[in-house]
Amino acid sequence: PPPHCFHPPRLSLTDGGSAWRDWARTPLWRRAVVLRAAAQQLRDHAEFLAGFLVQEVAKPAKDARSEILRSADLIDYTAEEGVRLLAQGQLLASDAFQGADRTKLCLASPVPLGVVLCIPPFNYPVNLACSKIAPALIAGNAVVLKPPSQGALSGVLMARCFQLAGLPDGLLNVVTGRGREIGDYLVEHPGVNCISFTGGNTGLAIARRAAMVPLQMELGGKDACVVCADADLDLAASAVVKGGFSYSGQRCTAVKVVLVEEPVADALVAKVCEQIAQLTVGMPEDNASIVPVVDAKSADFIEGLVRDAEGKGAQLLQEWRREDNLIWPLLLDRVTKDMRLAWEEPFGPVVPVIRIQAAEEGVAHCNESRFGLQGCVFTRDINRALALSSAMETGTVQINAAPARGPDHFPFQGMRDSGIGSQGVTNSIKMMFKTKTTVLNLPQPNYTLG
Ligand code: G3P
Repeated sequence: PPPHCFHPPRLSLTDGGSAWRDWARTPLWRRAVVLRAAAQQLRDHAEFLAGFLVQEVAKPAKDARSEILRSADLIDYTAEEGVRLLAQGQLLASDAFQGADRTKLCLASPVPLGVVLCIPPFNYPVNLACSKIAPALIAGNAVVLKPPSQGALSGVLMARCFQLAGLPDGLLNVVTGRGREIGDYLVEHPGVNCISFTGGNTGLAIARRAAMVPLQMELGGKDACVVCADADLDLAASAVVKGGFSYSGQRCTAVKVVLVEEPVADALVAKVCEQIAQLTVGMPEDNASIVPVVDAKSADFIEGLVRDAEGKGAQLLQEWRREDNLIWPLLLDRVTKDMRLAWEEPFGPVVPVIRIQAAEEGVAHCNESRFGLQGCVFTRDINRALALSSAMETGTVQINAAPARGPDHFPFQGMRDSGIGSQGVTNSIKMMFKTKTTVLNLPQPNYTLG
């Protein structure tokens, strides 16, 4: 068994669980009521929970608070979307198929999967947990939540909000521990019927280990920001700074490479540098723009990327500065394809700029990456924007704005190594059920029904 358990699961993982069967028989509207109550509990405890996010994952206080409130809104939306979506079934008559009479009527309706294993990452321990838990629950499933090691307390306290909301025991089980110690146990467990994971390369290992269960995964990105010569450069510069440096770049959807057309490169870089100079660097309690990255290993990795680029001739536009896990924001100009920073995601406050002759070159670079989460294009020409969007092989392309997952009902998915399946509230609910059919066999053809 896993070595560390909070509130040992009443749901037995050895028989595939039983709690979800009672829950699945609970009227849909009642499930929605419980979810809405959980959303309210999150709002009521927003300050308290946000305090944990600040301490556990060094999230700036205002962002921590908005993560909690965003999660409550997401749960409310899920409850509402769930009652509409899950209420629907389908009636099919057999005589639509070549050669058949109307002797069969097929009723198709959604049924739960059973137990959904939810594994959110450290950067959104509450929001990315709720984006998995709420769709799973509204569809009638039970959940095993494995929170991130850093962010585990936030995860446990978030789960407590569901308990306070009246969620019956056994439906939301929290198992804490290091992924390398308990991850395989959970992922390979025969009682798990679906895995929803957000994180890094671990997702590839999970996909290899998982049995025949549906997988929903978001595995990072190298989101490109392509800036055309006709772009609004103030808008593009703000997007690079907000998109690249908020929460110290520790977002899957952060701007992780800027590809700018040469004629405006100097101007864009100057504008970005001006804004970087305004960023505050410090502690999350003080709402600093740039906060320490999650651990020393991450900081070492980021430093390695910068040293590699510097050694190969990239231009550091700010002084490299690091104190423990705190890294000062850095823009690197004239990054080239032989540098690791052109391809790897730093997950830190470090943004490379590659100068290009034409936006199409930027799109080609983006498509060469093993990641394909989001990308963005800055231009005043809508036809060019649409053409570039169409050519960019990513799950989402933002036109004239930085990449972002929200609003949380938008479909959100990655191509190539950036993920499997699609998220966003509606798609996540659809992920969490199977279709069951009941076929009425009629004694003689019936042409009056349906
Ligand atoms: O890093 C997680 C990813 O889902 C980003 O979300 O809201 O910061 O775009 P967001």
